[in-house]
Formats: sequence, structure tokens, C-alpha cells
Amino acid sequence: MNRIDRLRETLEEPLLVTSETNVRYLCGFESSNAALLVEPGGARLFTDFRYIDSAREVPGVEAVETKRNTIAWLAEHLSGRIAFEAHILPITYVDALRAGGLDLVQRVGLVERLRAVKDEEELATLRRACAITDRVLERLTSEVSFVGRREVDVAWDLTCLYHDEGAKSEAFEAIVGSGPTGSGPHARAGERVIQAGELVVVDTGCTVDGYSSDYTRTFATGELDGEMREAYDTVLAAQLAALDTIRAGVTGVEADAAARSVIEASPFAGLFGHGLGHGLGLDVHEAPRLSTESADTLEPGNVVTVEPGVYVSGRFGVRIEDDVVVTAEGLENLTGFTKELTVVA
Ligand code: GLY
Ligand code: MN
Ligand code: MN
Repeated sequence: MNRIDRLRETLEEPLLVTSETNVRYLCGFESSNAALLVEPGGARLFTDFRYIDSAREVPGVEAVETKRNTIAWLAEHLSGRIAFEAHILPITYVDALRAGGLDLVQRVGLVERLRAVKDEEELATLRRACAITDRVLERLTSEVSFVGRREVDVAWDLTCLYHDEGAKSEAFEAIVGSGPTGSGPHARAGERVIQAGELVVVDTGCTVDGYSSDYTRTFATGELDGEMREAYDTVLAAQLAALDTIRAGVTGVEADAAARSVIEASPFAGLFGHGLGHGLGLDVHEAPRLSTESADTLEPGNVVTVEPGVYVSGRFGVRIEDDVVVTAEGLENLTGFTKELTVVA
């Protein structure tokens, strides 16, 4: 069954899909202005003049040209009861559709729920993104100098390596957090010059055919002090405990707890200040979530990150992040790059 048919089975009324990513997922159409109405008898893809020719090539949908303001056009041309993506459509557009006489129903996350379970084609694409990231990290750690260079210089080298290895783009702006910079979980690469004998958090990924990888490795620039070494070993033990726990049927809270309990029992208790991980696919952050607040239970075909960390404010951070596919028995780890503490020059 195709993706639109699977969505239709979950619907109580026609759904107007306006998330660009969800439209892409459902029918393969990439555009900055499109709406897909999934109805009992079919699906209509609305877009404007700029994209209508490519919309007509999309199999399994009826392409309909609208004026540039597609929502205003829909307000004039649609009628009856339809659901919309309440977490996506801006309130001004909702008001415009209501003013046009539509009976609107709020729905949240219907397509995202389908997207959380990857099919074989999606998994193959994610494997390619991860294989490229593995090669880039191999080259980063063997070819690139860290000590004496700015974090932004290493980040730029990463960009060039991705280009070289055939990735179309990076999935997000890479984090290169040396020493104290690494103590901010989402610190950006900055002007700081990397010193010898410290930790450097590198959080990076690339996008292949729309699907992203998202890895973190923490490297040492030479001999570390005992506290840094212990932090690294603790995060690695926490990450391995989570990988051991993850399989279909485990909740996001349980997966998170497997890693968190290791850190809480260490001298770094209280310093793992974010969730264990998140779904990965067309978005870098998507369902399901692995955290103390998660309401999700893992299913076969989920692809999630596993990324515990500890952050010692003003001094250093350690994070280790793999991308894994959840299976009935456990997981398939898509991340090949070593987790042994790697020393970079
Ligand atoms: N790179 C962002 C994250 O790991 O979630
Ligand atoms: Mn990351
Ligand atoms: Mn992540």
C-alpha cells in the first residue's frame, strides 16, 4: 500500500496536508508552496504556476493549479468538513479557510506518526547518509589538524569533506565545541582556538535524498586529565547501556533511563541535561522521542539517535551519538565510526 493510502486509512475526514515535509513524504513532491488534500476517493495536489508542471508528473495525485496564495484559493474553492495539520498551518491561514466557509477539524501528527516507521527505501537512504558520515569522520580524524586552529576552521573542513564524499548538504550546522565550548550541548563552532589536552565535541551529519544522519563523537587533543577521561568512560557506558536496552516495545522513557541511570550513579550525576535521543528521517528531529517526558513506545522501523552526554559548565562536554534502526530483537546500528576515545592532532 502506498503512503497516501496508508494515511487515508487513519482519517476520519479528508486531511489537508500543508507541511512541505509531509507533502514530500506522501507523494514525493518537493515545493515551497503545496497542499495535498487526501480524500476518500483520491488525492489532489494544489500548487501555483511555478511548480504546476512538476506537480503534473507526480503519480497517484491530481495536480491542481492555484493562484500564488494557495490557501486563499482553497478558501474560495473547497467546501465541507476537512481536517488540517493544526501544528503546521499558521493561524492566519486557518482563519482564511474558516472565513471561506470550511468546517475545519484540528489534527496533529497524523503524517508524522507514519513517518516514524521507515520503509526499506528510507532505510537504504539513511544507510547511505550514515556511510558518508562514517567516511567523513575517518578523514576528519586522520587528515585534519585540530590543535592551534579555530573551531570554525575544523567545521569548514567538515563541510569540504562532505562535499568530497558526495553528500549534497550538511544536515545542520556542525557543532565543534572544544574545551568549555563543549559544555553547551548545542554550542556552535566559534573563534576559540583548540588547545592540546582537551575534549572536542563534534556533532555532525549530512543529508542524502532528503534523509539526514546525526552523529556526535568527542575527541581528545592529546593526554586528558582524570576527570575528562572518567566523563568519557561514563558517557560511553551510558550509551552502551541504552543500545543494549533499545528494541521494539521499549518506551522512550525506559530507553532514556537506561543511559541516565549510569550517569546518575557517577560523579557526573545531574549533568545529562537533555533527552537520550530523537527520531531521524526527513527531519533531523522527529518522532519518536527518547526522554524522561516521552509518550512514545519504540516500534520496528523507527530510526532514532542515542546520544547521552555530560556537560561540566565552563570546562568541557562529552556526547556520543549513534543513529540506530529499532528492530523486534534489538537494533541495527547505522553508525560505524569507532567509540574508542580517538586522539586527534
Ligand atoms: N545535532 C543535533 C542533535 O544531536 O540533536
Ligand atoms: Mn547531533
Ligand atoms: Mn541528535
